[in-house]
Amino acid sequence: MSSTPTKEDVLEALRSVQDPDLHRDVVALGFVQDLAVCGGAVRFRLELTTPACPVKERLQEEARAAVAALPGVERVDVELSAKVRDSLPEGNALGGHVRNVVAVTSGKGGVGKSTVAVNLAAALALEGARVGLLDADVYGPNVPVMMGIREPARGRDGKLQPLTAHGVKTMSIGYMLEDGQPVMWRGPMLHRALQQFLQDVDWGELDYLIVDMPPGTGDAQLSLAQLVALTGAVVVTLPQEVSLTDVRRAIGMASQVSCPVLGVVENMVGDAFGEGGGRKVAEEAGVPFLGAVPMEGAVRRSGDAGTPVVVAEPETEAARALRAIARDVAAAISTQQRRDLPVMEV
Ligand SMILES: Nc1ncnc2c1ncn2[C@@H]1O[C@H](COP(=O)(O)OP(=O)(O)OP(=O)(O)O)[C@@H](O)[C@H]1O
Ligand SMILES: [Mg+2]
Repeated sequence: MSSTPTKEDVLEALRSVQDPDLHRDVVALGFVQDLAVCGGAVRFRLELTTPACPVKERLQEEARAAVAALPGVERVDVELSAKVRDSLPEGNALGGHVRNVVAVTSGKGGVGKSTVAVNLAAALALEGARVGLLDADVYGPNVPVMMGIREPARGRDGKLQPLTAHGVKTMSIGYMLEDGQPVMWRGPMLHRALQQFLQDVDWGELDYLIVDMPPGTGDAQLSLAQLVALTGAVVVTLPQEVSLTDVRRAIGMASQVSCPVLGVVENMVGDAFGEGGGRKVAEEAGVPFLGAVPMEGAVRRSGDAGTPVVVAEPETEAARALRAIARDVAAAISTQQRRDLPVMEV
């Protein structure tokens, strides 16, 4: 005498499952795909907005439980997938289909931009995203060492081929220079170099292109903002006061060039520099605080050895923090794109 559920019953049940970042239910968000009901067996796929979704297991479990509670349901299979949305306007001149461009920036040097950029890229790749990493620091490129890449870049069919390491496609001026060779850039040359890195590199299909910026709020920052509609900036700071003045400047710069600030990362937290400044400045500026990364020998060691700490020693405290930050950045991008998501009212 047990009744069997209809697709409508299942969708109705799934309306109780909310995405906590997007503040809508999974049906309205268009996440429910390939729904099939066969007697008491229900299967469907949740297509999320990023493979790095911080709550993917929770959504999967809530969806499963909501459907399992329906009368007549004996078995529920919930598959997860993700489709990262475009935040760049169509017809942008990038060399490939790049869906989002994220600049990792700071007001001043040596705070850990390259470290955060490299680990963000590697962590997103570990989650299954297609990731690129552009070293925009043409003065002191660090990506080759931190990603462990020693070959020169090569061209093919008029395009520069990115070099891949740890699942990330990378490009750096370092691939074109002899070791230790100094570079001097005038403004227009710098602009042209960044333009080539964006447009003449065969990036292919990318969900996220992470850009490691040189320190400061100068030519490179302006050029990048002119060349591409940035999805957002991640601002890195040390925990103490002097660096906060610089971070305020970096946030101010981002808003001047209409680049949303995805959030602030406080790096090298610990005895030497203290703790809490990043959260304070984020609150003050009304932007999200993405997290604190402790000062740990493993971070420097793995960076020097060419394997980002999230890959080399993923269970260290710093690596855990960086992985959580990567998921939060992905979620912040999805949240920002919320207005572009399909809204299905049934
Ligand atoms: N959380 C951390 N724990 C320990 N060492 C760290 C941490 N973050 C960064 N470092 C080390 O600090 C140094 C500076 O970091 P990094 O090169 O990432 O900074 P940056 O902001 O990119 O510098 P620049 O402005 O010169 O580009 C590196 O040697 C790096 O390994
Ligand atoms: Mg750097």
